[in-house]
Amino acid sequence: MILSQPSSDQWWSSAVIYQIYPRSFKSTTDGVGDLPGITSKLPYLAGLGVDAVWISPFYTSPQKDHGYDVSDYRDVDPLFGTLEDATTLLARAKELGIKVIVDLVPNHTSDQHPWFQKALKAGPGSPERNLYWFRDGRGENGELPPTNWRSVFGGPAWTQVEDGQWYLHLFDSSQPDLNWENPLVREEFESILRFWLERGVAGFRVDVAHGLMKDPALPDWDHDWEMVSGLDDDSVPAPPMWDRDEVHDIYRDWRKIVDSYGGMMCAEAWVHDDERRSLYVRPDEFQQCFNFSFLASPWDRASLQEVIAQSYEVNNRVGAPTTWVFNNHDVVRLPSRMGLPVTGKGPNGIFPTDPQPDLELGSRRARAAQLLMLALPGSAYLYNGEELGLPEHTSLADEYRQDPNFRRTEGTEAGRDGCRIPLPWDSTLPGAGFSPTGETWLPQPDGWEEYAPDRQIVNPDSVHTMITTALKLRKEHGLGTAQIKDHTTEDALEYQVGDIRVITAFDRELPVPDGWQVLLSSQPVTDTIGPNTTCWLQKTES
Ligand code: NOJ
Repeated sequence: MILSQPSSDQWWSSAVIYQIYPRSFKSTTDGVGDLPGITSKLPYLAGLGVDAVWISPFYTSPQKDHGYDVSDYRDVDPLFGTLEDATTLLARAKELGIKVIVDLVPNHTSDQHPWFQKALKAGPGSPERNLYWFRDGRGENGELPPTNWRSVFGGPAWTQVEDGQWYLHLFDSSQPDLNWENPLVREEFESILRFWLERGVAGFRVDVAHGLMKDPALPDWDHDWEMVSGLDDDSVPAPPMWDRDEVHDIYRDWRKIVDSYGGMMCAEAWVHDDERRSLYVRPDEFQQCFNFSFLASPWDRASLQEVIAQSYEVNNRVGAPTTWVFNNHDVVRLPSRMGLPVTGKGPNGIFPTDPQPDLELGSRRARAAQLLMLALPGSAYLYNGEELGLPEHTSLADEYRQDPNFRRTEGTEAGRDGCRIPLPWDSTLPGAGFSPTGETWLPQPDGWEEYAPDRQIVNPDSVHTMITTALKLRKEHGLGTAQIKDHTTEDALEYQVGDIRVITAFDRELPVPDGWQVLLSSQPVTDTIGPNTTCWLQKTES
C-alpha cells in the first residue's frame, strides 16, 4: 500500500530538527547551560548532520517553569546570556547552514511580566485585567474558584489575588493565561513574531498551541487533559479550554506574517485525535505539528503500523508532511520509556522507588525506534542527548527536583527533571564536561560520562555513530521526501522508502531477505535481523 504524502520542496518538510533545552545543553559558566554554550557546540551539531535547531525558551524569565514563564519576550535572560549572544548564535548557525527555530509561549506569561503586574495593581474591571482571565469567585464571598478547572501541573487552575478576584492559569500559578479575545494580546504577539523574524530566526515552535482560546462562558469541566496525549476518551464533552476551533484564526494571521519572512511554525498541540491535529497544518496555518500519537505509541508492530498509516492519511488530506518525534523535555527519555513493562507515552517521570526500566531492552528498542523514525518521509525531531542514547535519570533524589509538576502534585508525580539532566560532553572532565567548573544544575547519574560524545564518536557501534550515519544516508537517499510503501507482515514492520527497504523486527528474529544487503542497522546484523532491531537494506548489485 502506498502511504501518500504531499510532495514539498520546502526545507522543513523533510528536515531533521534538533531540540536544545538551553539550561541542560552546555554551560560556559556555572553549571546552567547558556547561549554561548549552544554557539560553541554548533559545529558538533553540524557534524551530526541536523538541518535546524529548535531552542526552548531563553527569554527573560523567573524560571519557575524553566523559561516557559516569560517576563520579557524580546530579551534574553541573564542566566543564558544577552541579546548579543543570541545574534552571535544566529550568525554562527547561518555560517554552518543550520536554521534556528525559537520557542514562542503565547498561552501565558510569567506573573512577573509587566502586564500581569499592572493588572494586579489596576484592580477588578480594569482594561489591564482584561489582558488575562480575572474573575470573581463563586461561593457566598467569592471564596471558591470561578470554575472547577484543573491545572495541567496538578491542583486548581485558579489562584486568588489580594482583592479577592481569581486568575486563570492552566499551568503553574506563576503562568497566568492570556486573554486571546483581547486585540492587544494579538497585536503584541504579532510584534514579537516580527521581532525575532527580523533577527533571522527560521521559525517558531509554538507552545500549547491548542490552549489559547477559552469558552468565555467558563463552564465547569470535570476532566483532566494530559500533557502530550490530551484526552483519550471520545465520550467526554469537548473541553472549554483546549483545542477550540477559534484558535485557528490566530494562526492564520500569524502565517501571513511568518510567510512574509519565509519562515515556518511548528505547533505543540496535545490532541489525541489525529484528525483534530491535522487541522493545525492546513495550508494557511502551521507548517508542522508534532506527531504525539507516534511518540505515545506502544512498541509493537500493530500500533506503530496504524499510527504511521493514519499519520500519513490525515496529513495528506490537508496537504501537509508529517512531523515525527519520540522525545522532548516533557517526557521520559526513550531508552527508559521503552524499557518499561508498558511502553508508550510513559509516566510523568520515574522515582527511584518505582519499578526501574530494563535499560538494556529499552536501549535496544530505542535504537530500533530511532532508525525507523529517521527512515520515514517527513520531518523528524531529535531531543538533545537523544543522539547519545541518554536514558532518564531515575535515581534523582526529591530534594533536587525543580519541576513545578512535582510540587503541584505534592510529590505524587516525579515530573520532568529526569529528562533534563545536563548533557555529558567530555568523559574525562568533572561533570562530564558540561561546564568549566564541573558544576551541573541537576546532578548527573553515575556513569553519565560513558555517554559523552568523545567516547561515542570513536565507537562504530554507538548511538551517536548510528544517528550520524542515518542522517547522512537519509540525505543521500532522499528519504525525507521519498515515496513510501507499506509491506508490513505479521512479523515485522516493513516499508519501501525510495530505494531503501526498512524492516523493524519486534519479538521474532527474521532472515535478511534474499537479494538485499544491510546498509545500516540498529544492532549488528549478519544473516538474521534480531528482535527489536531496525535494518535499512539496499538491493544487492546483480
Ligand atoms: C509545554 C512545554 O513543552 C512545557 O515544558 C511547559 O511546561 C508547558 N508547555 C507550559 O508552558
